[in-house]
Amino acid sequence: MKSLTDFDILEIPSETYDAVVVGSGAAGLTCGIALSEIGLNVCLLTKSTPEESSTNLAQGGIAVALPKEDSPDLHFNDTLKAGAGLVKPKMARILVEEGVKRVIDLIKMGAQFETDSRGLLKFTKEAAHSVARIVYYKDKTGEEVERTLLENYRGKIVEGAQTRELLVKNNRCYGVLALVNGKLKAFYAPVVAIATGGAAGLYLKNTNPPTSTGDGIGIALRYGATLQDLEFVQFHPTAFCDESGCFLISEAVRGEGAVLIDKHGRRFMGDYHHLWELAPRDVVTRAVESQKRITGGEVYLDFRPIEERGIDIEERFPTIVRKLKEKGLNPKKDPIPITPVAHYYIGGIKVDSFGRTSIEGLFAVGEASCTGVHGANRLASNSLLECLVFGNRVAYGMYRDWRYLRLDFQEIRITGRGAPPKNSQVYSLEDVKQVMWENVGIVRSAESLTKAIDRLSEIASSSSPWQVRNGALLGLAIAVSAMRREESRGGHYRSDFPYEREEFRKHSEFTITDLERLL
Ligand code: FAD
Ligand code: SIN
Repeated sequence: MKSLTDFDILEIPSETYDAVVVGSGAAGLTCGIALSEIGLNVCLLTKSTPEESSTNLAQGGIAVALPKEDSPDLHFNDTLKAGAGLVKPKMARILVEEGVKRVIDLIKMGAQFETDSRGLLKFTKEAAHSVARIVYYKDKTGEEVERTLLENYRGKIVEGAQTRELLVKNNRCYGVLALVNGKLKAFYAPVVAIATGGAAGLYLKNTNPPTSTGDGIGIALRYGATLQDLEFVQFHPTAFCDESGCFLISEAVRGEGAVLIDKHGRRFMGDYHHLWELAPRDVVTRAVESQKRITGGEVYLDFRPIEERGIDIEERFPTIVRKLKEKGLNPKKDPIPITPVAHYYIGGIKVDSFGRTSIEGLFAVGEASCTGVHGANRLASNSLLECLVFGNRVAYGMYRDWRYLRLDFQEIRITGRGAPPKNSQVYSLEDVKQVMWENVGIVRSAESLTKAIDRLSEIASSSSPWQVRNGALLGLAIAVSAMRREESRGGHYRSDFPYEREEFRKHSEFTITDLERLL
């Protein structure tokens, strides 16, 4: 299976650039800014408005080894520890060391982070960090990052451009095909970067914007790219959900002193981990689920200890407090019911340290990529840092390859024939989300994964719209990968294998040939 779209390239209008970047979050923009600075003619495609991204929603901040009691070594060790045996040390070294310079660059570009009366950066704490090393701006660090990067990007942006296919021949990428204003358009370039963000939006309950449906990862899978660690999805322990959806309540809230209590008002996290509420994210997530089961009631986040420390929560967390008040809840007085939901996609397109994928001319960066830096469980606030660090490195990798990769328009005469549906059913994205949430969620088992694989194969081969089939295909790849990992590690928990197994202390890889039997 390659194309999900019928097209003949000769009948489609086109534009040609030195580089195409797909996605306008922190990863795509950082890469686009660096490419433009080098002097390449860049086109950045984005599915919705430029600011609609996970980046824009980020709350907690950016982890960086800048505090005086910190060092890149300490940050490196914390990253390795949280990653449950699967962090790639070379990548983590790059992250923590180059991260210091990248955050300083961002400040030079105009990003405002909180400072003290002397103008020195303030740092907050999040789970599994041994020191407070998160730079932040209230509870809207992401808005500040997105604003700064958008203001500094000088290349072209095409809004409302949903990338649907890659233009690939003989394992070489020549550009992308996007739907712009309801019409297909080809964007040619010798080098292309996928920066389409993660896939947590394929779950019914999640913290992500609607754009996070794993599009770029699903597309790369179809065109033969090697993907990595697909079974690892990070669930965040503290979201507020009601019938209209979910929103995140930042881990920084616990970092500033909030505690988790059960329906009896008992602070229970000590039963599960010596770091209590600041245990690694996967531990807190499962503890919340377990406490709900044991007590048969809700789990609550109690903000009141923050105010007891003299911090005004309205001033420190204005967005969260406003959103809760809109729901009729006052965190100054009432403990807030919370629930774990899908938050971050650890797996993705396998890349080297310059973002190269297994397809020549195709790069990936940010949450869509898998550098191996997060292992089996991402350390909080390491993701924006990854976007800044690898966004720059990928631009450099693209530039190096651009110097010898040329567009050959004879080769580019590509015709796509949409993979024919095997059944005439039409499904919606909600169907995919339901299957993922119920069967490939926080706790998985061979039984639940078998159900997911059956159902997602059916949806992926159906007559459903592009978005649904592409999402179902990635969901299927996640479920198969989760089935193969017969152990529990980091964000991947199997009730039928509830322990780590040494023979699985390795990264998993996945290509489209792994799905041949199922489609
Ligand atoms: P995104 O920012 O998601 O950008 C992806 C872009 O690709 C978007 O512009 C989207 O529209 C576009 N796109 C998607 N599909 C297509 C397509 N088919 N065609 C064209 N364009 C497409 N991390 C931290 O480090 N610190 C935090 O405090 C933090 N808080 C978070 C809070 C929330 C609520 C969420 C959801 C995430 C948070 N994260 C945090 C994670 C972090 O924000 C993301 O991992 C990171 O921003 C991802 O950046 P990105 O550029 O890879 O993707
Ligand atoms: C948060 O603010 O809790 C999210 C931080 C992250 O996902 O890194």
